[in-house]
Amino acid sequence: MGRFLPLSTPLYLVLSYLSYLASVNAQPSPEVQRRISAAIAAAGNATEIDYTGFVNPFIGTDNFGDVCPGASVPFGMAKFSTDLTGYAPAGYVTDPTQKIRGLSPLHDSGTGSSLGSYGNFEIMPLLCPDGFQTCTTRLADHASPGYFAQTMDNEIKMEATSTRRAGLERFTFPAGSKPYFVLDLANDLPASFAGGAMDIDPQAGRITIGGSWSPSFGPTSFHYQAFACYDLLSNGNGTQKLDEFGMWTGDAYGLDQKALGVTHLNLSVNLIGGTPYESGALFSFEDNTDTVVIRVGVSFVSADQACANAESEVGDATFEEIVARSKALWQDKLRRIEIDVPNTPPNVTEMLYSSLYRSFLTPNNATGEMQGAFANTTSPYFDSLYCSWDTVSDPSSTASKMLTSNKFRTFYPLMALHSPTDFAEIVENYIDGWRKTGWLPECRSNNLPGWTQGGSNGDNIVAHFAITYHNEAAQLGVDINELYSAAKTDAELNPPEWNIHGRQVNVYKQYGYVPFAVFDPSSTGRQTREASRTLEYAFNDFAVRQVALLLNNTADVETYTNRSFSYRNVWDPNVRSDGFKGFAEKRFPNGTFVELDPTDCSPQDTNTSRACSLQANNENGFFESSSWEYSFFAPHDTAHLIELMGGKDTFVKRIDHFFEAGYFQAGNEPSFQTSVGYQYANRPTKSVDRVRDVVFTNFDITPAGLPGNDDQAAMATLLIFHLLGLYPVPSTSQLLILSPFTPKYTIHNTFLNTSTTVTVHNFDQRSVQQTIPRNAAAYVQNVTVNGVPTASRCHFDFYDTFRLGGEIEITLTSEKDEVDDCAGSVPESLSTGGFASVR
Ligand SMILES: *[C@@H]1O[C@H](CO)[C@@H](O)[C@H](O)[C@H]1NC(C)=O
Ligand SMILES: *[C@@H]1O[C@H](CO)[C@@H](O)[C@H](O)[C@H]1NC(C)=O
Ligand SMILES: *[C@@H]1O[C@H](CO)[C@@H](O)[C@H](O)[C@H]1NC(C)=O
Ligand SMILES: *[C@@H]1O[C@H](CO)[C@@H](O)[C@H](O)[C@H]1NC(C)=O
Ligand SMILES: *[C@@H]1O[C@H](CO)[C@@H](O)[C@H](O)[C@H]1NC(C)=O
Ligand SMILES: *[C@@H]1O[C@H](CO)[C@@H](O)[C@H](O)[C@H]1NC(C)=O
Ligand SMILES: *[C@@H]1O[C@H](CO)[C@@H](O)[C@H](O)[C@H]1NC(C)=O
Ligand SMILES: *[C@@H]1O[C@H](CO)[C@@H](O)[C@H](O)[C@H]1NC(C)=O
Ligand SMILES: *[C@@H]1O[C@H](CO)[C@@H](O)[C@H](O)[C@H]1NC(C)=O
Ligand SMILES: *[C@@H]1O[C@H](CO)[C@@H](O)[C@H](O)[C@H]1NC(C)=O
Ligand SMILES: *[C@@H]1O[C@H](CO)[C@@H](O)[C@H](O)[C@H]1NC(C)=O
Ligand SMILES: *[C@@H]1O[C@H](CO)[C@@H](O)[C@H](O)[C@H]1NC(C)=O
Repeated sequence: MGRFLPLSTPLYLVLSYLSYLASVNAQPSPEVQRRISAAIAAAGNATEIDYTGFVNPFIGTDNFGDVCPGASVPFGMAKFSTDLTGYAPAGYVTDPTQKIRGLSPLHDSGTGSSLGSYGNFEIMPLLCPDGFQTCTTRLADHASPGYFAQTMDNEIKMEATSTRRAGLERFTFPAGSKPYFVLDLANDLPASFAGGAMDIDPQAGRITIGGSWSPSFGPTSFHYQAFACYDLLSNGNGTQKLDEFGMWTGDAYGLDQKALGVTHLNLSVNLIGGTPYESGALFSFEDNTDTVVIRVGVSFVSADQACANAESEVGDATFEEIVARSKALWQDKLRRIEIDVPNTPPNVTEMLYSSLYRSFLTPNNATGEMQGAFANTTSPYFDSLYCSWDTVSDPSSTASKMLTSNKFRTFYPLMALHSPTDFAEIVENYIDGWRKTGWLPECRSNNLPGWTQGGSNGDNIVAHFAITYHNEAAQLGVDINELYSAAKTDAELNPPEWNIHGRQVNVYKQYGYVPFAVFDPSSTGRQTREASRTLEYAFNDFAVRQVALLLNNTADVETYTNRSFSYRNVWDPNVRSDGFKGFAEKRFPNGTFVELDPTDCSPQDTNTSRACSLQANNENGFFESSSWEYSFFAPHDTAHLIELMGGKDTFVKRIDHFFEAGYFQAGNEPSFQTSVGYQYANRPTKSVDRVRDVVFTNFDITPAGLPGNDDQAAMATLLIFHLLGLYPVPSTSQLLILSPFTPKYTIHNTFLNTSTTVTVHNFDQRSVQQTIPRNAAAYVQNVTVNGVPTASRCHFDFYDTFRLGGEIEITLTSEKDEVDDCAGSVPESLSTGGFASVR
């Protein structure tokens, strides 16, 4: 693995000594897949399809996918999952060798940080007839939207369901056993406790907890606060009676004290570091019940608010009622994309809806739960915006995958197709970040600013919203002028410390690129990644240019159009690799390039000691990527990139070689658009072939079915676009046309009240495999939108299609050679007159 992010404080794998760890065979029950397959098979006959039945929450819980399969509502702040030992950043991981630590209400999904994110307030049911030991082996992990269950080897079953900020936990004990529980005060997954308190009110049957912890990905000197409220008496209806209760503390070196009857703990941070102080509550129920239901509320404001959240969101509802409510919320989201299930390969249906599910799992809606600078905001508030980073993908490869700046690529563009209301709330929250902190948030995790890896990619996210919904922005609660001010601040104003937001724009503006080894008199940040930061800053500038164009600000359009060409300033025409000439490289202030091997930090790099991430000794010039991979990055100006690379034929050969030589990393965001790059060279059938190969080589319906970290559904949304035969150009309204994996789908836009149905003529299920058979129709022959043929078969515009609603017809053919051109324009590029106006 060797590419862990540099954290200023070492983290310790602290949990192995916890005495109450229990064995569990952590893998999904075969019943999960049986249920999904049956639901897909039955869909043809259903009058109203239950899309939640197609979701497999366990996809991405192995192979470092870091997906949280826990119970959550759409954008839920609460995500109830078990926490396992070992590397399990989302709490759960499919790995039969791990032990279980407990069930807890706060998690993130698809963020592979150090040791994880959240995991605070764990509860663990115990059998204690003669200690905390484990018994027979048995497996049965279940999850569906809104529901999570895991059964331990000792036969205690844990189930959870949730609302936005609360949930119910149900524990079923073996008949005749006495239910014991231990509730943890201090631990979160990264073991970052910075002090907190816990109180038991035995009469009310209520335990309140609150404390401070460090973020999973950001300065560990920053702390966030979190609170929980556990109601133990099943709403006081008399079925559950508390028996013993008290507090405990322990460590690995002999401290193991249980204090019966004690109801208050208040512990400060352990300044000497090392193994943190373990402590919490221990309680039991009178043994007249095998099933214990516990209501849990969480808050980022106070323990009282955590209790109030449980009261208002769960109240007296039963476990089944909360499951049903959550399922209804999921159905409302998932039916925004409908497909022809009976005529779609079942794996495609399962991948599509599981991906769509994950695309609504984050960011976490913490509206009403603000702290710090956001304490009194009246704007919507979302936690875990992240930069969508991770630390490892394939530990056998020398380069780990990109952490940052991917949600602008596919995540928000997908949201723009169906859910502008949700998108608008998140965009308003981004703008509010600028209002409260001075810059757009870049990598918010655990309510705190996290490390920036690329540029200020929030610019591209808000620009995508502005470009696609400026007509409705005011109605959706977004002020486009403020949006522009926010993005422009990122482009013009250097924060004194640019590790957590903003950009090092002073030197970038001065030199036209971010120079390596530059004297910067006024700002601080990790002085690495100069080539990739330049490429990212240039695309950020394109985002600002797009909004300037929208606002008819011609002077700014000129400035930022010019600046968006800065990617050219790190183009070293003399570097050669594998017979190809011209690569991006970092550059000294005097203009001299630092000529490094473009394969460094690629999956083919055999040097395992090379730093490729945020480490101070990352000498490569790129963040978690090779120059081979990053040199394809100029999504707004690919036409010129093609010229730099030596023309269309060479460009096509170069993409081919990129894949054949193994420089492509399916799980790494800079690689996302390369498989569709052939469109720009007027060779669309090659994109179709490549996308089939990428999908079937890297994605499937198993827990290991993602090529590494989901990056908060960046992978999920890339897969959805691939399956729908589309690819978005971020910060524009352009969509590339590829070949759908389903014969018919409809996207409902819940705000515009439009529905757009894509019908694929000559669809051949046999084409839905890694290599398209010679005689299977899969290549786009022509496209009509509401009866009118499109001007190109390589691209169309959101304003003419999914915004408008209606019928899109795509005719496929097996005659590949006859249709291997755009029959019209290639997708747009700035330098060839593209993106000249906004819609
Ligand atoms: C669908 O309905 C048809 C006709 O009633 C029946 O033959 C078939 O078995 C049903 N299929 C499923 C999967 O229920
Ligand atoms: C815990 O103790 C600190 C002082 O050590 C005090 O400031 C804080 O208010 C106490 N918290 C609770 C919840 O008792
Ligand atoms: C008490 O509450 C629990 C959990 O909600 C429920 O299962 C049980 O049926 C309730 N009992 C009565 C008597 O209402
Ligand atoms: C929020 O409001 C409270 C009460 O008026 C005030 O004490 C606090 O300073 C405010 N916080 C922020 C970040 O504005
Ligand atoms: C977030 O929660 C608030 C408060 O419940 C709600 O009004 C808003 O619609 C939610 N946003 C999303 C995107 O779910
Ligand atoms: C920009 O100019 C166009 C064309 O003149 C006009 O339709 C549009 O309303 C203007 N937009 C703004 C924000 O002024
Ligand atoms: C951008 O502006 C600079 C300074 O005015 C100019 O020298 C340069 O040629 C411009 N670049 C492009 C690509 O237009
Ligand atoms: C530019 O600066 C670098 C680093 O100081 C130096 O090695 C190189 O020789 C310089 N190039 C020129 C042309 O002066
Ligand atoms: C591996 O990379 C490191 C850092 O770039 C470098 O110092 C070292 O010489 C390289 N090792 C080999 C064998 O190339
Ligand atoms: C569906 O996915 C499973 C699991 O990856 C795989 O074994 C099976 O071959 C796939 N089926 C098809 C038809 O692709
Ligand atoms: C969409 O339909 C809803 C419900 O009928 C209506 O309130 C809303 O105004 C419509 N939205 C638009 C943009 O027409
Ligand atoms: C699309 O191609 C099909 C098959 O060749 C043809 O029948 C149809 O007329 C074409 N449609 C348009 C709009 O060109």
